[in-house]
Amino acid sequence: PRTISLAVIPGDGIGPEVTAEAVKVLLAVTGSSPVEFDLTEYPLGAEHWLATGETLPEKTLEALKGHDAILFGAVGAAPGDTQIPSGLIERELLLKLRFSLDHYVNLRPSRLYPGVDSPLAAPGDVDFIVVREGTEGPYAGNGGVLREGTPQEIATEVSLNTAYGVERVVRDAFVRAAARPRRHVTLVHKHNVLVNAGRLWKRTVEKVAQEFPDITHDYLHVDAATIFMVSDPSRFDVIVTDNLFGDIITDLAAAITGGIGLAASGNINMDRTFPSMFEPVHGSAPDIAGQQKADPTAAILSAALLLRHLGFDEEAGRVESAVAEDLAGRDGTRRTTAEVGNAIAAAVP
Ligand code: NAD
Ligand code: IPM
Ligand code: MN
Repeated sequence: PRTISLAVIPGDGIGPEVTAEAVKVLLAVTGSSPVEFDLTEYPLGAEHWLATGETLPEKTLEALKGHDAILFGAVGAAPGDTQIPSGLIERELLLKLRFSLDHYVNLRPSRLYPGVDSPLAAPGDVDFIVVREGTEGPYAGNGGVLREGTPQEIATEVSLNTAYGVERVVRDAFVRAAARPRRHVTLVHKHNVLVNAGRLWKRTVEKVAQEFPDITHDYLHVDAATIFMVSDPSRFDVIVTDNLFGDIITDLAAAITGGIGLAASGNINMDRTFPSMFEPVHGSAPDIAGQQKADPTAAILSAALLLRHLGFDEEAGRVESAVAEDLAGRDGTRRTTAEVGNAIAAAVP
């Protein structure tokens, strides 16, 4: 069997609870597949920072680079927390990982599984993917504060968009669309206001589209995209968008397809120069942490994305069919995080 060297970063809040179930399901797959896991756990996150003052030490980052992939839970303090500066863990751990490991494709599939309730009255057949740029945009950390705390304060966050960065993620979206039945790409941006970056994104889509003559494409401003996501979500196939728009619309996409507890993601380095990292879209959910109330499905579906990225398509499909079976049978009875994980692990064909 092939051994996958897997780094596991459970993180904070519900992160460890849902990650334990994702690992359980991965191990359930190994029984009947030519794949094994060599797991190394890394204690990182807000709790770790409080205990040690470390966010992501250089030596830990180097060690992470040696793995085949990373399974990430969630990090972050509770919103009202006063001990941990807001954004410290997010920027210096999670975003540092995405940037350092060049995770330029933040892949976020949205599918309304059979039997899952949508808050929309007539959602239709929802099955789209968001290809969110992962290493640039307003997340790049450009900007600053002048005269902080004074009435003259000026705060800026400057969005970074490079031709190189935009083109590689746009091309990835077209490649993914080429493998899907509907073969359609929608660029989501706001080029009526963000004219500089908007022009670059639009021109890049037009250019890359010429390499893919049998793929159709269109454009939506991000505000209008949120309308269609609730009024007609089945129109979407592949959405390509910048880092911040992608963050916002994927929480909405999760909400219309059964909730944030089901939404999976992959932070992918398609060039495979560094390991890719798979994590639920949700955060550490301090409001329900430690109570076995979190739905581990998003983490489990993220593990399926991990398997697919490493070339284990068949195994990924088995995890997804176990999830589909569990989702189809949900009747509203409350189950613990571990009970859901056990049921999905047992359903792995
Ligand atoms: P959140 O996603 O943690 O929670 C939003 C709401 O969704 C909460 O009511 C929560 O209980 C619920 N929820 C989330 N995951 C769930 C699950 N698996 N099952 C059932 N319910 C679930 O978002 P937030 O409250 O804005 O952020 C909390 C902390 O997490 C913040 O510190 C934030 O920065 C951080 N965060 C981290 C990540 C990450 O690590 N990737 C992502 C988003 C937010
Ligand atoms: C996500 C999160 C992160 C993001 C935060 C925690 C940095 O919201 O993964 O969606 O904004 O990308
Ligand atoms: Mn988010």
